[in-house]
Amino acid sequence: MSKTLAGRTIVLGITGGIAAYKAATLCSRLVSYGADVRVIMTEGATKFIAPLTLQTLSRHPVATDTFDERDAAKVQHIDLADAADLVVVAPATANIIAKMAHGLADDMLSTTLLATTAPVLVAPAMNVHMLAHPAVQANLGILADRGVRFVESGTGQLACGYVGKGRLAEPDEIVAAIVGLLAGDRPLAGRKVLVTAGGTVERLDPVRYITNDSSGKMGFALAEAARDQGADVTLVCARTDAPPPPGVRVVKAESAQEMLDAVMQRLPEADAVVKAAAVADYRPVVRHAEKMKKGPDKLTLELERTTDILQAIGEWRREGGAAGRGPFVVGFAAETNDVERNALDKLRRKGCDLIVANDVTREGAGFGTDTNVVSVFGAEGLLESMPLQSKRAAAERIWQWVRERAGWNGEAPRS
Ligand code: CTP
Repeated sequence: MSKTLAGRTIVLGITGGIAAYKAATLCSRLVSYGADVRVIMTEGATKFIAPLTLQTLSRHPVATDTFDERDAAKVQHIDLADAADLVVVAPATANIIAKMAHGLADDMLSTTLLATTAPVLVAPAMNVHMLAHPAVQANLGILADRGVRFVESGTGQLACGYVGKGRLAEPDEIVAAIVGLLAGDRPLAGRKVLVTAGGTVERLDPVRYITNDSSGKMGFALAEAARDQGADVTLVCARTDAPPPPGVRVVKAESAQEMLDAVMQRLPEADAVVKAAAVADYRPVVRHAEKMKKGPDKLTLELERTTDILQAIGEWRREGGAAGRGPFVVGFAAETNDVERNALDKLRRKGCDLIVANDVTREGAGFGTDTNVVSVFGAEGLLESMPLQSKRAAAERIWQWVRERAGWNGEAPRS
C-alpha cells in the first residue's frame, strides 16, 4: 500500500445515519494510506457505531463533545480545525448539511467546520426523498457555491427500504476523491486566482439592457482548471448561459461598473487575474428608473465609455498599489481581423502580462461553443498558437503559461 497521504491530517466527521458504519472502513483505508486521521462524531453517529471502533482504527481519541476539553493547553475544536489539511464529512446527513449551509455551531463537528479554513469534502447519505427535497438541494447549492466539494451519493437499495439515490458513496470512491484533492498534481496549490466570465449587462430601464454573446464558457473552463490544479478560485461572473462550476467562490457582477468594483476590491489578495469576461465598452448615459414609453419614430440612445477594467488593473500595478507584488495579469482579445497586431497593441495599452487572442470568425472558436482556437502573446510577441481544442484543454495550457511566466513552477506561493 503506498503512503500517498503521509504527512496529511484529515479530520473525519461522522454524522448519525446508518451509513456511519462505512466510515470505519473509510478511516481504516485513510490510515493505511499514511494519513493522520482525527475523528469527530456527532451524538447521532455514536448511536450507530461505537467511538471505540474509530479510536482503535485512527489511533487517536474520538472527539464527540465540544466541552470535553482533555488538554488544558488546547481548545480542541480550534486545534482540530487548524491541524486539518482536509475535513471530510462522511456520511453527511441532511441535518449537518443544513447546519453547514447556515453556519450553525451547536456541536463539536459543526463548530470545527466553522472554524476551519481547510478544504471540505462532503459525502451525503440519506433517504431518496430527503435528498431530493428543495431545502436539501438549496443547502447543497449554498455549500457548492462556497467551494465545498462533494462525493455524490450512489443509487441503490437504501436502508429505509426505498431504492434510489441517497446511498453513501463507497469508501473506496471517497478515498479516491480525497487522494485526488490532497495528493494529485496540484501546481496551483496555495495560489489565489481571480477569473472573470460572461457578458456584462448594461441596463437602459428595468426591463431592457445591452449585452453581448459571451456564454461564460471560457471563463468557467479557466476557473475549473485552476480549481483542479489546487488554486483558491474566485469567479466574478456577469451574465452567462449556464450556472458556474462548483468548487469555486462565485461573485455576481452584472454591469461593467459592478465588475470593476468586484475585481478592484479583490486585487490585493490575488496572485493572478484572468479577464475572460466580455465587458461592455459603452453603457447608456441615462438608466431610467421606470420602463421607457415609446415616443417618436426614431430614438437615439446616448452611450458613454465604461472604465476599462484590464487597463485599471495595469495602472494599479504600475502605481505601486500592489507594493511590488502585484498579481500576474492575463487579458483576452476577441478579434475578427489582424489578430496579432491588435492583440499586441492591447497587451501594451492595457499593461497585462499575457494576452489570449481568439479570432472569433474561425470555425469552432469564440462565443457559445465548447471549443476554441486561441493564441497566447507575451510582450515579445506570439508565444503559442493552439489548435482547435476544448475550452478546458485550452484553459489548462493557459495556466501552464501563467505558471511559467509568473515563475511559479519552482517557487512556493507567498504566504
Ligand atoms: N476589458 C475590460 N474592461 C472593459 C473592456 C474590456 O477589462 N471595459 C477587457 C476584457 O475583459 C478582455 C480585454 O479587455 O480581457 C479585451 O477585450 P476586447 O473587447 O477584445 O477589447 P477592447 O478593449 O474592447 O478593445 P477594442 O474595442 O479596441 O477591440
